[in-house]
Amino acid sequence: MACAIARPAAPTAMTQNQLDKKSEAWSALFSEPMSELVKRYTASVFFDKRLWLADITGSLAHADMLAAQGVISADDLAAIQRGMAQIRSEIESGAFEWKLDLEDVHLNIEARLTQLVGDAGKRLHTGRSRNDQVATDVRLWLVSEIDVIDGLLTELQRALVDVAAKNVDVILPGFTHLQVAQPVSFGHHLLAYVEMFARDAERMQDVRRRTNRLPLGSAALAGTTYPLDRERVARTLGMVNEAGRPQVSQNSLDGVSDRDFAIEFTAAASLCMVHISRLSEELIIWMSQNFGFVKIADRFTTGSSIMPQKKNPDVPELARGKTGRVVGHLMGLITLMKGQPLAYNKDNQEDKEPLFDTVDTLKDTLRIFAEMIGGQVNPDTGAKEGGITVNAIAMEEAAKKGYATATDLADYLVKKGLPFRDAHETVAHAVKAAQSHACDLSELPLTVLQGFHASIEKDVYDVLSLRGSLNARNTLGGTAPAQVTAQIARHRARLG
Ligand code: ARG
Repeated sequence: MACAIARPAAPTAMTQNQLDKKSEAWSALFSEPMSELVKRYTASVFFDKRLWLADITGSLAHADMLAAQGVISADDLAAIQRGMAQIRSEIESGAFEWKLDLEDVHLNIEARLTQLVGDAGKRLHTGRSRNDQVATDVRLWLVSEIDVIDGLLTELQRALVDVAAKNVDVILPGFTHLQVAQPVSFGHHLLAYVEMFARDAERMQDVRRRTNRLPLGSAALAGTTYPLDRERVARTLGMVNEAGRPQVSQNSLDGVSDRDFAIEFTAAASLCMVHISRLSEELIIWMSQNFGFVKIADRFTTGSSIMPQKKNPDVPELARGKTGRVVGHLMGLITLMKGQPLAYNKDNQEDKEPLFDTVDTLKDTLRIFAEMIGGQVNPDTGAKEGGITVNAIAMEEAAKKGYATATDLADYLVKKGLPFRDAHETVAHAVKAAQSHACDLSELPLTVLQGFHASIEKDVYDVLSLRGSLNARNTLGGTAPAQVTAQIARHRARLG
């Protein structure tokens, strides 16, 4: 049976007032406006407005394609382009009025566009939904941020390589369990971090590849009835692979709903911060009076309000602390995704603040570390100044303290024919003797050493010296200065 109702009044076009206050009542379907509290609770404009450029860029690519496909007219496209250019300049100059009532960056920009260009503005949303729009915006924005992060990772690696190059022959005690283990080149030690940051950069490139894919065209969740050319939009937005092929999401439900790219990015950022945090921890230890291995420039330290002698390593400490914050964002994002049914859910709006804060924290930290380690370019001389200062004498003295060449003595005995386990035991007796005389192994007279094993000869002292120990570890990836120099050359060629 047909539904017997009176013929409805013809709908009227949206008034400007309705456009400005969309949340007052979404459409004719709603019988009451949103409460003020709900408005504040659901609005995202005060944080997602930072996506404005990606939003405009995405909209222009969409409009260009709609016109090319004959869905909107060339005049509409021109009007949209004109309106967007004005909005861009309004936002850049700070004149743009962001309205909480318009909920998010997308509705704010669209409403202003319609205010400026009329019906053409209302046609922009043809064949699109905020669901595929926001997924596109976040991806576009993140790709551009990954490119900045990539540059900063290169800067930090260059700074570390430069300091390493100046310290190839500087010896510091290498630790395991924070107990003196074997002498290592300070350059070699710094290059360990270069390896970590190089892998971080690789991970970022990997994340970039999967982020740089276009969800637009998925519409709300099921695709759209309009003849969209999604690959054209992807090409316009630079969402292409290494071969220049457009990268477009292949399932509309997945395209609008998954935020795995944001989670992956935050995981890569967390690892990078963990590497920074390890370096921070070392700097803090090295700067303590008991070590005195390095100094960082005063502008990266603070004094104490009560103890006049103090210079505290606030920057490395804060970086170590901020690592917790970024790892927390990873936990937040991954938990956000858990339990969401397909397709888009409003939960996803919560992806932004953790993602934004991760990007900000990582960029600031990388920038400050590159400068703290490598220094700043002096505009007059072009040389870098004010990086970390290395106290080579303190490092070498510390390396002499912990019987760091004991393994070298064991290796010496093996070369004389002893099985390694016996050599190990023999050297333990020698270390004990040296400890009871409060001296280093290299300070024990030859006759005393020969008491531990008859095969020991005068050449043992070459082996017991720190430099001899270093030079002997001349295998690929080892700490011998020849190896370290080769690694520096490799990194320089790679980093440009
Ligand atoms: N502000 C929203 C977000 O960030 C945009 C998408 C809203 N979509 C929707 N169906 N309510 O996720």
